[in-house]
Formats: sequence, structure tokens, C-alpha cells
Amino acid sequence: MWQEQGPEDRLTAMGNLWPRFRDAGRTLGVLRALTLAPRWAVRREYLVVVRDLASPRGGDARLPSVGDIRWSRLFPKDAGRLREANPGLCPDEVRRRVEEGQECIVGWQGSTIVHYRWDSSRPAYLPYLRAVFSPAAGDIFAVDAFTHPAYRRRGIDWVATARALENARARGFARSVTVVARWNVPGIRVGRDKMSGRVVGRVTRWELGPLSRLRVTGDVQLTARGFSLVG
Ligand SMILES: CC(C)(COP(=O)(O)OP(=O)(O)OC[C@H]1O[C@@H](n2cnc3c(N)ncnc32)[C@H](O)[C@@H]1OP(=O)(O)O)[C@@H](O)C(=O)NCCC(=O)NCCS
Repeated sequence: MWQEQGPEDRLTAMGNLWPRFRDAGRTLGVLRALTLAPRWAVRREYLVVVRDLASPRGGDARLPSVGDIRWSRLFPKDAGRLREANPGLCPDEVRRRVEEGQECIVGWQGSTIVHYRWDSSRPAYLPYLRAVFSPAAGDIFAVDAFTHPAYRRRGIDWVATARALENARARGFARSVTVVARWNVPGIRVGRDKMSGRVVGRVTRWELGPLSRLRVTGDVQLTARGFSLVG
């Protein structure tokens, strides 16, 4: 079913466009990002990746050494500082995540934020899909992960994800779920390959002018506000 986009949705999308494009350029190279951008504006496809937390760790058995990183939860006084790592993360977005009950873990090297990640066992709004993902009971959803561009490709996301999954398992969660853009090689490398995750379906947002539509495949189903996993 097609939905009308509200003016707020369009403004939020516009405001975040440049930092997001710059980040895609870092990952893909500027030329490839430029080629992808027009298609991505119309059709954004994400893989839904799950990992059973009861099974032993796979490819992530030997974690890299990432130096002296201190991990802490996000304290309110530091919320504004997440933008030092990612200028595309606006304060309203941080506020909404906190209000939704998402948990943020921050990796510090000295006084620099080198990484942050958000996880949630509650329904979480995903602005890039303009949809709510609703985790099932026993599921923990990895909403977002970000490594400061100057600290990438050192294994920090790998270590942060392994820590988060271990922590989730200890808290009694049975499964982790994440969604990752189909072009996002490092996101897939960590979320799927290194964590022995399985792609169980896809979610695609089509945008045609003022019209918009969410499509799902595999073990993913549409809900009133977005999508969830089947069963
Ligand atoms: C995705 C992201 C968090 C990864 O952070 P990171 O700390 O650099 O990740 P790691 O170093 O732990 O691992 C990245 C893996 O991807 C690989 N990789 C990174 N960039 C790559 C690229 N452009 N092409 C191919 N592989 C790439 C790395 O080589 C590494 O794999 P390896 O250890 O087998 O060599 C980071 O790129 C980022 O913040 N991106 C922007 C936000 C984002 O896309 N978040 C993911 C949402 S699911």
C-alpha cells in the first residue's frame, strides 16, 4: 500500500543527506556512491540479519586487539558529543532513541568517542526506512553502529558487536537482529560474516515523488507501523 510522505519526513531526510552521502563515499568511493545515490533515492534495500545467541561464536572467535578502549553506556551529559563522531546524528534523533528505550554504548579512546552503538528490545523507528521494527520476545535489535571515520578498519565494530552479543546472551536474549544496507560492505562484513549471522529476508523502501511503499521478503512481515520477523 502506498503512503503519503509528510513534510517532516522529507525535511529530516534532506537534513541528513549530506553526512550520509559523505559516509557512503568513504565506504564505496565517491564515484560508486554518486552512481548509487539516484537509485538509492528511489529504492533502498536492506538485509535483515539474525544470529542465534545460544550457538557458539563462529568467525568472531579470535577478536582483534583494538587498543585501549573504554566502554560505557551513554550518559545524558555526553549525548551531544555523539555528533563529534557522526555529524549526521541530530539531537532530535538521539532524544527519540532514548525515549524509545534504546540503549547506547559508547567506546572512548581518551576523551574521543571512537564508536557508538544502539540496541533495543523495544519497537524502534528507523528513519532511513521510515518504519518501525518490532522485535519479538527474546530478540535484541542492533539498531545502529557507528565508528568514528578516523578509527575505521581496526576491528572496533567487530569487538563492539561481539561484546554486545555476549552481553545480550548473558541477559537472557535468544537472538540478535539487525538490518543493514545492501551496499554496506563493512556493515555486512561485521553483522553477517564475522558474527555468523544469517540473512532471513529483505526490506525495501520505494520512494516515487510524494509516494512511498515498504516491501518485505523472506521471514519478514509487514506490520501496521513497519515490519517484524515472522514467527
Ligand atoms: C560499519 C562500520 C560501523 C564498521 O566499523 P569498523 O570499526 O570500521 O569495522 P571493523 O573494523 O570492525 O570491520 C570492518 C570490516 O569491513 C571491512 N571493510 C571496511 N570497509 C570496507 C570497504 N570499503 N570495502 C570492503 N571491506 C571493507 C574491513 O576490512 C573489516 O573486515 P576485515 O576485518 O575482514 O578486514 C563503519 O564503517 C561505520 O561507522 N559506517 C557508517 C555507519 C554504518 O554504516 N553503520 C552500520 C549500520 S548496520
